[in-house]
Amino acid sequence: MKHLLATDGLDAATATAVLDTADELKRTLLGREVKKLPTLRGRTVVTMFYENSTRTRVSFEIAGKWMSADVINVSAASSSVGKGESLRDTALTLAAAGADCVIVRHPASGAAHRLSGWLAEAGTAVVNAGDGTHEHPTQALLDAATLRERLGSLAGRRIAIVGDVLHSRVARSNVHLLNTLGAEVVLVAPPTLLPPGVRSLPVTVSHDLDSELPALDAVMMLRVQAERMNGGDAPGGNFFPSAREYSISYGLNERRMSLLPEHAVVLHPGPMLRGMEIGSAVADSPRSAITEQVRNGVHVRMAVLYHLLAGEEEPTT
Ligand code: CP
Repeated sequence: MKHLLATDGLDAATATAVLDTADELKRTLLGREVKKLPTLRGRTVVTMFYENSTRTRVSFEIAGKWMSADVINVSAASSSVGKGESLRDTALTLAAAGADCVIVRHPASGAAHRLSGWLAEAGTAVVNAGDGTHEHPTQALLDAATLRERLGSLAGRRIAIVGDVLHSRVARSNVHLLNTLGAEVVLVAPPTLLPPGVRSLPVTVSHDLDSELPALDAVMMLRVQAERMNGGDAPGGNFFPSAREYSISYGLNERRMSLLPEHAVVLHPGPMLRGMEIGSAVADSPRSAITEQVRNGVHVRMAVLYHLLAGEEEPTT
């Protein structure tokens, strides 16, 4: 693997290798007081975030540090981006300064792909940490790691992705990866929050959450992305259905959770809008794997860095 830009096109063998490495790293570090492996000593990882993040940015930083890489965080607000420097010039500057890997989050779909082209000559690896409404591949990998832990194999499992699919890079990356790993995906959303090309995706579509719940192995709730809706600067600001209608029809509350089979898992990529797309009692219930998703995010991102940067080294030595 030279870059990780998308799960669309990521083959099952590569995805499974990353997930297996993440499992191995998790087992190795379990219960250790000092979580430090020498695997990426001497490697330099730069995170470059042009959009807000808590989980992705922090877990990439922890992942790099736990593998002994030097990790440098660049934020658009405090860098020369604020003086008008382009994405290309910023990336070339980071590569010239010695970055072996650039992890980028950007509001423009396709930004990570462009970056990988500009950095090809320098040999710098690029990881897409979320580009516009396009993809967020490490989120899908950590979701798959969490589902494997709870359910075993994903082959034949039925997984619903619920809510604002239109604006969700998490949904897109999960559709492709879950499909590659053999799961059946159903998108549950109001017609206004589905993307135009939805019929060309390997999914079924439903507008009725209640009728889908009894047959699911997992339900993945999505954040309503008011910031990507025209004129919508707050949940419920300016989209259809309204926040109240959305919550009534698509919110996962306790009544709806009781319609799920006993073994079914509840996921949410975060940040959560409690009371809107998910109730607090559901988010904090034993069914919820939301905290495990965050924990697994570190091991999955360690595994991604390992597969991009480690060469012949074993992941845990
Ligand atoms: N799931 C996710 O990408 O969260 P952050 O925006 O906090 O990184």
